[in-house]
Amino acid sequence: MKKKVNFGKLLHGGDYNPEQWLDSPEILEKDIEYFKKADINEVSLGIFSWSMLEPEEGEFHFEWMEEIIGKLYENGISTILATPSGARPKWMADKYPEVLRVDEARRRMLYGTRHNHCYTSPIYREKTGIINRKLARRFGAHPGVIAWHISNEYGGECHCPLCQAKFRQWIQDKYQTVERLNRAWATTFWSHRYNSFDQIESPSSIGEPGLHGLNLDWRRFVTDRTMDFIRHEIQAIREGGSDKPATINMMYDFRGLNYHKLADAVDFVSWDNYPQWHKKEEILTARDSGMQHDIMRSLRKEPFFLMESCPSATNWQPVSKLKKPGMLHAASMQAIAHGSDSVLYFQLRQSQGSSEKFHGAVIDHYGGDDTRVFGEVREVGESLRKLGEIAGSMPKPQVAVVFDWENRWAMEDAQGPRNAGLFYKETVLKSYSAFRNLGLDVDVIDMEQPLEDYRIVAAPMLYMFRAGFEEKVRKFVSEGGKFILTYWSGIVDETDLCFLGGTPYGLMDVMGLRSTEIDGLYDGELNSGAPAAGNPLNMTRAYVCHNLCDLVRTSTAEPVLVYGSDFYQGMPALTQNNFGKGQAYYICADFEQDFYDDFYGKLVKETGIKTPLEEIPAGVEVTTRTSGEAEYLFIQNFNREAVRMELPAEEYRILSGDYDGTVKRFGTVVLKKQSAQSK
Ligand code: GLA
Ligand code: ZN
Repeated sequence: MKKKVNFGKLLHGGDYNPEQWLDSPEILEKDIEYFKKADINEVSLGIFSWSMLEPEEGEFHFEWMEEIIGKLYENGISTILATPSGARPKWMADKYPEVLRVDEARRRMLYGTRHNHCYTSPIYREKTGIINRKLARRFGAHPGVIAWHISNEYGGECHCPLCQAKFRQWIQDKYQTVERLNRAWATTFWSHRYNSFDQIESPSSIGEPGLHGLNLDWRRFVTDRTMDFIRHEIQAIREGGSDKPATINMMYDFRGLNYHKLADAVDFVSWDNYPQWHKKEEILTARDSGMQHDIMRSLRKEPFFLMESCPSATNWQPVSKLKKPGMLHAASMQAIAHGSDSVLYFQLRQSQGSSEKFHGAVIDHYGGDDTRVFGEVREVGESLRKLGEIAGSMPKPQVAVVFDWENRWAMEDAQGPRNAGLFYKETVLKSYSAFRNLGLDVDVIDMEQPLEDYRIVAAPMLYMFRAGFEEKVRKFVSEGGKFILTYWSGIVDETDLCFLGGTPYGLMDVMGLRSTEIDGLYDGELNSGAPAAGNPLNMTRAYVCHNLCDLVRTSTAEPVLVYGSDFYQGMPALTQNNFGKGQAYYICADFEQDFYDDFYGKLVKETGIKTPLEEIPAGVEVTTRTSGEAEYLFIQNFNREAVRMELPAEEYRILSGDYDGTVKRFGTVVLKKQSAQSK
């Protein structure tokens, strides 16, 4: 196994585009001066530099880059060097139209924007191979270059003839015979049977949009194709002689690619985070961002890197809201708390023209270091310097929430109980938040990852069971785990064929029930779950539910809550089943957050999982990172006013942040406890 990437410090820096300023050397000088003032120790260079590196086919200019990497290095600033495939020069598109992407309606795109390339095109592969090898040869051994940033935010799909041919091959490899394919995709429905693999085409809004098995396999194929392209890019770097670690920058809540797969192709995970702060209560935004951080950390169960974030306001969200004083620091520290070893920005210097000229930056058009934003960036830099020793440490969660990409693809594609919205992610977030409200660290995993490391696993809305998930659950519960499943789970197999003979498939004995029907509720329609008399969890209050209500017939499960109204009044709304040494719980309806908080609170207590603080005031996030030597406790106040709270004084000392009985608005206090064995 490869070693975990650890730069021995926390990185502070971000996307830097000096190629836009080559005619103004004084600006480049200033940049370095400012970077040093703000403890910036890293830049991500060359992300969109192809036309400056290869202005004409086969004519390469690396001198400018060499000079900049060198200067930065002399000043203590490292470079994460990008491969330029995120956007290509015009000469290439003009000469080789096959590099241009074809959309789902089979239109070949014109030259423009970025990320607009075919991942299959042999020419595009050849061109990216050449430039990546050259970059690696020229800069791979440079001590200033610490890692590779492969392309930029991979995404999208190509439906060109080259990609269609690959897709057909992929399908044939998977199913071997057409009969198997027809069976798996249920093509007899509406007479859509295939006679040969040659007849297969990618899904299209002007063709076949409704064959769910096809849609699902197409998405899997797009992930595979992208991964194949990433591997091609990294391979070229290796051929160029560099073995420095490589990453791709992933995106927030991005459905298009299964990041669990892509994480295997890189040496470390990084991602770009642009929350819309101040739109709702900050703690709610923090929960949502926190879950994304935890997804990223859980991909490889290693520290990740925050590759991009905005120092002030973006210019692409519906409203470009400024971060209020302190928000940048809080958001940045939150990434660190959840396992990031960096806080990097888009961008270091604001571009003068084109589509991102008004995007927030460390250095803006005014060009001075006496701006509010620069001051805030400096504060982040200072905290990161103080916290440097925590690089490489990790949260150690005892609870996990399952959030599965393929399940999401399938569930959101199917026409089912609620086409007006199933709220999968929101439902996962409720489980996640309930654990986080207790101060517990949470892994967010997919169905392929192991369960045995955890004591409680919540798996909301697992419509699709795949990767032998039901067997893992059976083992997990029988060996003493607490497992939570919800309505609309275990319905289909991995090609989206419905399970026959009752659901949740393979778990009816573990859950002690069978789901018989599911009721979709109109927007605004409510039901409730009231405590069942003598219920095993001593639940005492009723909770509101909406959207979906599952009607179950129990065998061995005991009702904990029962429905409050409608024709299913009195039927179970939450159940518990003892199975082997563990317990399996089934949540029948889409309940409010309070329900999750109370219910999970009871489970955590019963399990004896220790929470880091006795009491956590509302709006405060508590997160822990541990290394062999120490435990680091992050207390973050996302409230708009200071909050009075007790911090655990004994054994802990303050590593960074202010505490005077209160934690200030948007303040972060990091406490350190030496672990017993290292004392
Ligand atoms: C993305 C891209 C960057 C930039 C930022 C703007 O994350 O990777 O190049 O466009 O968005 O927020
Ligand atoms: Zn293509």
